[in-house]
Amino acid sequence: MNQSEKFNGPIPLSLLPDSAQVGSRGELQIGGIAVDDLANEYGTPLFIYDEDHLRSRCREALNSLGSGTAYAGKAFLCAAMARLVTEEGLHLDVASEGELQTAIAAEVPGERIVMHGNNKSLDELSLARSYGVGRVVVDSLDELHRLQRLHDQDGIVSPILLRVTPGVEAHTHEYVSTGQNDSKFGFGLESGAATAAVEECAANPGVDLVGIHQHIGSQVFRVDSFARALEVVVGFSEPLGLPELSVGGGLGVAYVESESAPSITEWGEMLRQACDSLGVQARVSAEPGRSIAAQAAVTVYSIGTIKELPGIRTYIAVDGGFGDNPRPMLYGSGYTAFVPSRVTEARNTVARIVGKHCESSDVIVREASLPENLSVGDFLATPVTGAYGYSMASTYNRMPRPPVIFVSKGESRLVIRGESVEDLMTLDIG
Ligand SMILES: Cc1ncc(COP(=O)(O)O)c(C=O)c1O
Repeated sequence: MNQSEKFNGPIPLSLLPDSAQVGSRGELQIGGIAVDDLANEYGTPLFIYDEDHLRSRCREALNSLGSGTAYAGKAFLCAAMARLVTEEGLHLDVASEGELQTAIAAEVPGERIVMHGNNKSLDELSLARSYGVGRVVVDSLDELHRLQRLHDQDGIVSPILLRVTPGVEAHTHEYVSTGQNDSKFGFGLESGAATAAVEECAANPGVDLVGIHQHIGSQVFRVDSFARALEVVVGFSEPLGLPELSVGGGLGVAYVESESAPSITEWGEMLRQACDSLGVQARVSAEPGRSIAAQAAVTVYSIGTIKELPGIRTYIAVDGGFGDNPRPMLYGSGYTAFVPSRVTEARNTVARIVGKHCESSDVIVREASLPENLSVGDFLATPVTGAYGYSMASTYNRMPRPPVIFVSKGESRLVIRGESVEDLMTLDIG
């Protein structure tokens, strides 16, 4: 049975942001506003985030994963998002100078920031230390040496977590799998690198080792993968008697009709049970990204061309593409689509939705079930685009990145303005 036979009903509300509802014209509303009206007002492509959905997932994470839990900014970050997660009581995980500067611009208190990165530069570490970042998650011996050098200059001691790799496969795409022995991230447990790093910390006046960190990968559906990794890591961390343990992020989300994923609450419960049975004494925290942001957003496009290839397929080209959603191209990720003005209709036809970049790999949905009789100029939307979409966006073919808006209770606000070609040209000084 192919996707078109199986899922030809209306788009299920479970894939849409929490505030999604159907208006009297059969149109989708998010945050109390018709998606078509938002697309007309702000133009397309457009990322629409349900602000209340983001807030509710932050609260769920705080309640079920514990204080000290950080939102992983790599999933989606801008100043408004950094403020939102801070208002909701979460910490913020940043992984570059750009993400750190965004947190600083949003006035996230230093002690609420966790600094990641497998190759933090001296400048990045220096900025993190001078801003009083709460935790630096150390990923290599070179980084320990850099922290010592900086300490020799200014005497600042950095509270750190050591990132370890438990040697556990996460059962996810190879490109987002990080817990295996053969990884660029962290210190291996099996190889003895993690033990050597702990010894190095004891002799390093620039660091105060307060805990262990693990992150096995992203878009992980199988809770047993988390449990197995915890078992291995706890066997290493508990005997050290350190006060903190971060289990990282990685909880998967459903992108299409055939998928289902554990909720943040269920994930938290599983982690708590695993920690209890392993006798963990350390304060446990986590770093969810995707599970907070992904389902909060939809991307709206306009149809530009419809090409029927008799006996082959129909191609529908929209005004975005892998520039705003690289996940299908990077990981072969599946998406689904719908027409926001006809959200209650059956989706009885099948088409391939493609972007406007000059690559055949620029496919957004390979087999999209859609309502019949679509026309050029109609709006098309893809749900579950809130994580690793805008944050991974590119300007390939010199196509500017789209705007991002937040909607809530009948109000919309621009949080990232759309890039213009002039913005791109300002870098061009040759
Ligand atoms: C160290 C670390 N923490 C947290 C996350 C967030 O993962 P996710 O968005 O899958 O929850 C990532 C993602 O790659 C990560 O590398």
